[in-house]
Amino acid sequence: MARLKLAPSLLAADFRCLERQITAVEPEVDWLHIDVMDGHFVPNISFGIPVISGIRPLTTLRFDCHLMTTNPDAYLPELAEAGADSVTMHIEAMPDPTDAAALARENGLAFGLVCNPATPFGAISPFIEISDLVLFMSVEPGFGGQSFMPEVLAKVEQAREWVEERELATDIQIDGGITIETAPKAVAAGANVLVAGTTIFGAEDPPAAAAELRRAIEGK
Ligand code: DX5
Ligand code: ZN
Repeated sequence: MARLKLAPSLLAADFRCLERQITAVEPEVDWLHIDVMDGHFVPNISFGIPVISGIRPLTTLRFDCHLMTTNPDAYLPELAEAGADSVTMHIEAMPDPTDAAALARENGLAFGLVCNPATPFGAISPFIEISDLVLFMSVEPGFGGQSFMPEVLAKVEQAREWVEERELATDIQIDGGITIETAPKAVAAGANVLVAGTTIFGAEDPPAAAAELRRAIEGK
């Protein structure tokens, strides 16, 4: 498997000093996970396109935009223009994502699908071949700082088996409650991209926390 990727979630960053927070973790991480919430698909509002374009000049990290929105295909050109590199959309918001995946690619965006803890693997499996990544929520979407739901690991295992059998290069991402304790379990189940908000940006020393998380998943 390729190098494991860490994607700190901006939701847990200190918004008074985003530049300092992002540049501090940059050498230790791979992607920046950006949670876009609309207050409708999830009961919370976070940030959107102006914040993405505002922070774009600060870093070369891949902007991994997790769209927790009711119409996730509505702003793809604007997201691409703002500097997003990939978008993930919830299967619960878009049961047939075929056209949305094509539209994302037309706009130069990598495309991914997300499923909530209660959504079965079968809801996304027909679309894995049109996805660059699949994201399994290990908490209910909408808020940081919740506890990891270990029952989600069975779906991660199913997805890993699915992509290996078909020799696909699909990234398998997990999001929610990732800590030094839970991250190795997610990797053992087959995840290769780990989102971590509280564990990285919520720490006193975010780059040190990211390095510690990497040691935990690489078994060093
Ligand atoms: C929740 C978001 C997560 C969140 C993770 O809806 O999708 O990305 O920021 O936060 P932690 O790592 O604190 O569970
Ligand atoms: Zn997220």
